[in-house]
Amino acid sequence: MTFTQDILNLQEDPVFLINKKNIVTFANESAIQNGFVLPKYKDKSYYEVLRPFELISSIGLLEEGKAIKITYKERTYSLYKKTLKDADVFFMRDITNYELYQKSKREFIANASHELKTPLSVIKSVLDIAIEKEKDEAMLKFLKKAKNASESMEELINDMLTLSFVESMEDNIKLEDYVDVKILIQEMLDMFAHSIASKGLSVYLEIEPIEVKTNKKLFSIILKNLIDNAIKYNKQNGYIKIIVKKEDKLRITIEDSGIGIAKEHLPFIFERFYSVSKDRAYKSTGLGLAIVKHASKLLKINIDVLSTLGVGTTFILTFLES
Ligand SMILES: Nc1ncnc2c1ncn2[C@@H]1O[C@H](COP(=O)(O)OP(=O)(O)OP(=O)(O)O)[C@@H](O)[C@H]1O
Ligand SMILES: [Mg+2]
Repeated sequence: MTFTQDILNLQEDPVFLINKKNIVTFANESAIQNGFVLPKYKDKSYYEVLRPFELISSIGLLEEGKAIKITYKERTYSLYKKTLKDADVFFMRDITNYELYQKSKREFIANASHELKTPLSVIKSVLDIAIEKEKDEAMLKFLKKAKNASESMEELINDMLTLSFVESMEDNIKLEDYVDVKILIQEMLDMFAHSIASKGLSVYLEIEPIEVKTNKKLFSIILKNLIDNAIKYNKQNGYIKIIVKKEDKLRITIEDSGIGIAKEHLPFIFERFYSVSKDRAYKSTGLGLAIVKHASKLLKINIDVLSTLGVGTTFILTFLES
């Protein structure tokens, strides 16, 4: 045993090597003890000596720099690969505790947000009644401020619930709905008809008749948030243009003639709670694009953004598997 192999044996996480002829040339003690590699692996091909089947089938699919999740004996591992000159090294990391922590965090956020909804709706209705009855101008101003704040809080809670819903789909995502893209976009625009009209926006549609196999709920969440932004950050009497086209891949472009996003902010707009504008008129919670990013990843959609300050913004969705 070489010095390097001794060091790899000290490591708690499983590691093994597969050469260019698909032969397992080394497995550390952890890989054997955890049952991923049979003890008599030497000079045998990986499909004979690796366990479980999920690991064998992942070997050929795994790209360098990416990870695949493997569940075995009630524990969850991430599998990574590093390609060397004569072999591929496979690393596995036990992420069971991390996954449990993420799950309980998600559940806590979902439960807490849900519990906040009832008292908040009471506050909102009481404020409505108070605003209706109040005669004193100064007091009315305070009450309206409180009402405004309660609406912002409601939006935040709804966004938090949506984000935790999207995150909870991670492990059991089904892309099995056949969605007519034109009908769905039209439904979304109808939902926003009031705000589109009150801002005097023109809507241009260039939509090829296309059906896409995806998860309808997540796809709707993506469109809803992007259209919401295209309206919210638009100028009075501006426009929104939506193009749906399939060339090599299906592409959906949502262009607006709004305030635009400065270059220095662009790398951050998909982060949670990031909002460029400090203008309170926008009722910004900064969760919309974080939701979009997460949902797009699950649906295998790539997002590009082009923006010019003061001119407008374009979001381009590319369906990688279309
Ligand atoms: N179409 C757009 N035009 C201009 N700025 C935009 C556009 N879309 C997003 N932004 C900027 O990126 C920020 C993040 O957007 P995001 O949708 O995540 O949050 P939000 O709109 O502030 O709040 P919400 O959670 O209600 O969506 C926004 O605050 C805004 O500054
Ligand atoms: Mg938004």
